[in-house]
Amino acid sequence: MTAANVFSIEDFNLWYGNDQALYHINMAVPRKEITAVIGPSGCGKSTLLKTLNRMIETIPIVNTSGIIKYNDNNIFEKKQMVEELRTHVGMVFQKPNPFPKSIYENVAYGPKIHGIKKKNVLDEIVEKSLRGAAIWDEVKDRLNQNAYGLSGGQQQRICIARCLAIEPDVILMDEPTSALDPISTLKIEELIKELKKDYTIIIVTHNMQQAARISDKTAFMLNGELVEFSDTDQIFSNPKDKRTEDYITGRFG
Ligand SMILES: Nc1ncnc2c1ncn2[C@@H]1O[C@H](COP(=O)(O)OP(=O)(O)OP(=O)(O)O)[C@@H](O)[C@H]1O
Ligand SMILES: [Mg+2]
Repeated sequence: MTAANVFSIEDFNLWYGNDQALYHINMAVPRKEITAVIGPSGCGKSTLLKTLNRMIETIPIVNTSGIIKYNDNNIFEKKQMVEELRTHVGMVFQKPNPFPKSIYENVAYGPKIHGIKKKNVLDEIVEKSLRGAAIWDEVKDRLNQNAYGLSGGQQQRICIARCLAIEPDVILMDEPTSALDPISTLKIEELIKELKKDYTIIIVTHNMQQAARISDKTAFMLNGELVEFSDTDQIFSNPKDKRTEDYITGRFG
């Protein structure tokens, strides 16, 4: 049986050295929905996101307390292998970061690491992933060209395809469109809505219109606290907390 919530975050705290960055976070992330995380710069959005696939642990001064369950298993328990968690929980970053390799190799990279060697199997994964990321038609005739030769928006979709190729369950996106022009941004937003059919998506965004456009649930953070977490419609039309209201109406942040 799979839990209704992909992640259950229970009284989670995080420190960088002596500085606490997250305070008593409680949050349940529903499966196959889009959850947006908003809030002013420095409030802890990226920290929370990077915790969910334990990327945060690459920073040695980080300490945590509390529980984060992924499908009912605490991700901090030793038996939870970090590598395994990361195959289920993929990540797309703010700046498109393709490898300096061909388009094909970028997407085949993850499956190859997981031991898939057969060319026909890899070909299939690459095509499926590129189609899933809505970029197949644009690149199918130049799969062997370097991914650096693509536009920023195309590179970001290659990065999404690279993420899809490992067949994740959850996709974490940290401001995936902030480096992109408006048209590429809309394409990625359409894509994210499409991906919701098969994946759970957690997206950090500075763009409140974007959160309102694409997400089902919205989390508003401030100074390391989760101030309010609820249906996106509710957050934007009838926030419960004055601080949320001030933020979404642009009174601060
Ligand atoms: N590697 C680090 N070492 C020490 N402190 C850090 C580190 N990374 C982040 N912080 C601190 O933790 C707090 C939260 O940072 P975080 O990057 O999570 O914020 P954010 O909400 O993603 O901000 P932004 O919108 O600017 O990306 C900030 O006070 C930041 O200075
Ligand atoms: Mg950030």
